[in-house]
This record gives sequence, structure tokens and C-alpha cells, in this order.
Amino acid sequence: MQTVVFTNDIARVLDDSIGQLSPHGIFVLTDTNTSRLVWPLLKNCCASMESAGLIVIPAGDVNKNIESLSCIWAELQRTGANRHSLMVNLGGGMVTDIGGFAAATFKRGMKFINVPTTLLAAVDASVGGKTGINFGGLKNEIGAFREADSVIISTRMFATLPPEEMYSGYAEMIKHGLLDGDSAFHRLLDYDPVNHDFDRMLSLLEESVGVKRRVVAEDPFERGLRKALNLGHTAGHAFESLAMSNGAPVPHGYAVAWGLVVELVLSHMRRGFDSSLLRQLSDYVNSHYGTPDITCKDYPALIELMHHDKKNMDDLVNFTLLDAPGKIVIDCTAPDSEIEVALDIFRDLMHM
Ligand SMILES: NC(=O)c1ccc[n+]([C@@H]2O[C@H](COP(=O)([O-])OP(=O)(O)OC[C@H]3O[C@@H](n4cnc5c(N)ncnc54)[C@H](O)[C@@H]3O)[C@@H](O)[C@H]2O)c1
Ligand SMILES: [Zn+2]
Repeated sequence: MQTVVFTNDIARVLDDSIGQLSPHGIFVLTDTNTSRLVWPLLKNCCASMESAGLIVIPAGDVNKNIESLSCIWAELQRTGANRHSLMVNLGGGMVTDIGGFAAATFKRGMKFINVPTTLLAAVDASVGGKTGINFGGLKNEIGAFREADSVIISTRMFATLPPEEMYSGYAEMIKHGLLDGDSAFHRLLDYDPVNHDFDRMLSLLEESVGVKRRVVAEDPFERGLRKALNLGHTAGHAFESLAMSNGAPVPHGYAVAWGLVVELVLSHMRRGFDSSLLRQLSDYVNSHYGTPDITCKDYPALIELMHHDKKNMDDLVNFTLLDAPGKIVIDCTAPDSEIEVALDIFRDLMHM
């Protein structure tokens, strides 16, 4: 299994990890934000970083594209990187996705370490082996499954992250808590991720990443159980796409938080999920994520978007639902009429 280290002594761990790999040349991939805000933290305190070459690509998911990838390959080639060189991906999910793919393909594969600098990348993107870029207008269209040689997670990397990005990543942690069980779910609802308690956050993250790793270990190529990780995402992607097409995009994790509430409403309706737990989640989401900008007039568009989700079978929308926290049911379908009822209940719960 892939090595994932949780530490707030990142300089020592990074130096040790690199020492064990004994690479021929080290390259650090950043985006224009992490080169300015995070790279100085490592450059000045890691011995192994002194000789590293820095590669900077433009920030933002729109730049997770073939042009940025080509720049990374060209820079590796120009500076004489080879199969025994090491890439350190220092950034959010955009950097770990494209850097992982660049490393997986350059000279048929060089080593790489992920050092996630967003909560979302730490809890989701940097672990699990999916790498890639957007292409032809489609997200993650080109890519490869290739796990990092190691992932080093330190909450100190998030010191400069805006609160919105912290909440966005935290929605994925709540998702993992729901997949895990009652006590994990409650621990997460008892915490506010923007209070910068680095050590508490590190231990919550360790637990949360453990959930994703256990699921991925059982189903590395997404043939079954990995669909559990889709909890909250069928409705969530619909909220995200609708907001985007209305010209008012929302962070992915906000859409996932709303999607989790909708899908727990459906879990309550179809699988008897406990209504008081549902209300605890909706209260937390309401106070930290606010509400999506929708009315009942948006239901047809939202349901249409759910039908376009690639995980559907036949004419019915496919969901991952829960009987209870930790009791996962994949491949549940729901007719449109029930999704409409769930959206009504969602709006009631969110006081909309
Ligand atoms: N591979 C997977 O399994 C997987 C899973 C989920 C998401 N993803 C991918 O991850 C990406 C989203 O990840 P993300 O939310 O981390 O996006 P991101 O990498 O674009 O980071 C979000 C923003 O935060 C900035 N930033 C990063 N670290 C910072 C820091 N410490 N301080 C201040 N600003 C910082 C970035 O420059 C960027 O502007 C998407 O491309 C998505 O497709 C991949
Ligand atoms: Zn997600």
C-alpha cells in the first residue's frame, strides 16, 4: 500500500523520504500561488530542497491542461530529468493531478511525492492513484492510475488557505465520516475547520484519509465499492453544474455539502436513515456552507443534470445511499418524482 505520512514536522519527513528514494535530481512542481505562499516554507528548512529545480505552472483548474503538461515535460527534458529523478508535487489537487500524470508518463514513469497544500488535496486528490488532466472541454478526460511513491500530509501547509477552501475540503471529510460510522461523523460535526488547530486537524485528517484508503485498497480501479466515495456527489455535481451555468460558480465542496444533505434525505426516504442525524448534518451545512441559489423552478434542470451523471444505469438516477453512518449501499436508484420530494425536504431543512 502507498505510504501516507501525517506529520507537522514536514522538513524532517520530506528529507527522510527523499533520502530513502535516493533520486537522481529533484524537481518541485508548484502553481503560481503555492510557489509564492508555500514553497518558501520548504525551501528554507529542507536540506533536500536546496538543489531542487522549481517548475511553476499557472494556478486554477482551467490550467490543468495539455499546455501546462507540455510545459512540465519540456522543463524536465531541458534540465535532464530521467527515470530515476523525483518530482515533488507541492500544491492542491490541480498540481497533484497534473504532476502525478507528468511523472507517470515522463520516460515511462519517474518517482513522485505528493505534498498537498489544500485540505481537498490532502483528504482526496493526493491519495488513491488517480492522475490526469482536463481535455476537449471534459474534466479528467486523459489520465492514468498511478500512486505517488509517498504522500506527506501536514496541516501547516494550509496556513495561508482561505476559509472557503478549508470548508470546501472539509465537506469531503464529512463524506468520509458518514462512510465510516457514527462516532467519526459526530467528531467532524463537533469541529470547525477554520480554527487552525493544526494538531487536531491532523488527527481528523489521518482518520479521514484512512477511510478513502480502505475503500481504494478494496477497489483500486473503481469496479464496485469505490462508488461509495460518490456519496453526495450525484446531487452535488448537479448543484455545481447549475451554479456554473448560471455564471455563479460555487466551490466543489460546497456543492458536495448540499449534495450530502439531499442524498441523506433520499437515504431516509428509501433506506430508513435516522432523521435526527440528517437534521444534525443539515444544521451544520446550513450554518457553514449557506444554501444554494435554487427554487422549485430549478428542479427539472437539476434532475436532468443528475441523469447525465456517468454512473447511471437505465433511465433511473444512480446514488450511493446509507442505511446508517458506515452502512453503505451502492447502486441505489430513485425515480424523478422521489428526487423532487427529496429536493423539497432539502429546502425545508435548509430553511430556504
Ligand atoms: N485525483 C483525485 O482523486 C481527485 C479527487 C478530487 C479532486 N481532484 C482534482 O483536484 C482539483 C481540485 O483540488 P483543489 O481544490 O485543491 O484545487 P487547486 O489545486 O486548484 O487549489 C485551489 C486554489 O488554492 C490555491 N492554493 C493551494 N494551496 C494553497 C495554500 N496553501 N495557500 C493559499 N492558496 C493555495 C491554488 O493555487 C488554487 O488557486 C481538481 O482538479 C479536481 O479534479 C482529484
Ligand atoms: Zn468531491
